[in-house]
Amino acid sequence: MQFAGSHILSVQQFERADVERIFSVADQMEPYAHRRRVTKVLDGAILGSMFFEPSTRTRVSFGSAFNLLGGEVRETTGFENSALAKGESLYDTARVLSGYSDVIAMRHPAEGSVAEFAAASRVPVINGGDGSNEHPSQALLDLYTIKSELADSGRGIDGLRIAMVGDLLHGRTVHSLCKLLCLYSDLQVVLVSPQELSMPESIVDYLRAAGHQVVESDVLEASIAHVDIVYSTRIQEERFSTQAEADLYRGRFRLNQDIYTHHCEPNTVIMHPLPRDSRDHARELDDDLNDNPNLAIFRQTDNGVLVRMALFALTLDVVDQVDAHARDVNWYTQRRF
Ligand code: NCD
Repeated sequence: MQFAGSHILSVQQFERADVERIFSVADQMEPYAHRRRVTKVLDGAILGSMFFEPSTRTRVSFGSAFNLLGGEVRETTGFENSALAKGESLYDTARVLSGYSDVIAMRHPAEGSVAEFAAASRVPVINGGDGSNEHPSQALLDLYTIKSELADSGRGIDGLRIAMVGDLLHGRTVHSLCKLLCLYSDLQVVLVSPQELSMPESIVDYLRAAGHQVVESDVLEASIAHVDIVYSTRIQEERFSTQAEADLYRGRFRLNQDIYTHHCEPNTVIMHPLPRDSRDHARELDDDLNDNPNLAIFRQTDNGVLVRMALFALTLDVVDQVDAHARDVNWYTQRRF
């Protein structure tokens, strides 16, 4: 695909070569994300960061990624603080705000809303999550993490064995990740969820059409026995009509160190898009895994910056100029990544 000036709305717009291009630009961003070098390649550029649903890491890492490229960030957070609360349409909001920005990152609770907004925007729009539909930058950072976690043992994404666990009905991260995995071959995908929260049939069909082996289950222990990656997810309480309904499912699948030791292979990588629900009645990923070297959740969040820097550099077409606008940092730095 041609990245310059393009919206990033769904992983389905990518070919495998596009994903590889994003990953190689992400690698190139490493000295900047790891604070050894600073670049001013986006000096003067403005990111419109518009988050109409709760967000910590996606919002902040999009902003940090833009800052690390030398640009500035204008934030709008929450419906109540925007004219959408006065009945303004997405069309009007997009016409207005795209006049104030060079690129926009947006999250919104309604499926398809970010695409509707993008259709009226005068600048590229990156989907930071639209309801239960898609979260393309998360899927890219997840796949980038999978690739780098497996690299040490000489394995690649083709032939991967992965278990996705939790609320697979509402989780946009697993929807996007499954679609992205369809660009690769010979995967074994185990989908572990309560039956009522199983992966939408259209996505299961899509995985099977790509030639992957798909097994659906509602038992955790047996499902995680022979996989390279366990990708755990939170019950998406905001998609249920009542908390009581969400409570029926919270805590159903809990991965902790004891279960990991007894059921997983020694090097199985543990992932989660975060936030993990650490309240007692949930704990889908127990804190007692924090010292497990295969817990990759904070490497995922670090990788999110690299991947989002790559998306900005590509959509704003500055990849080849990043290093020309760079210098070493002035300050003492001994950050461990
Ligand atoms: C996810 C999301 O918002 O879809 N979080 C994130 O962006 N890392 C997952 C979640 O909220 O459970």
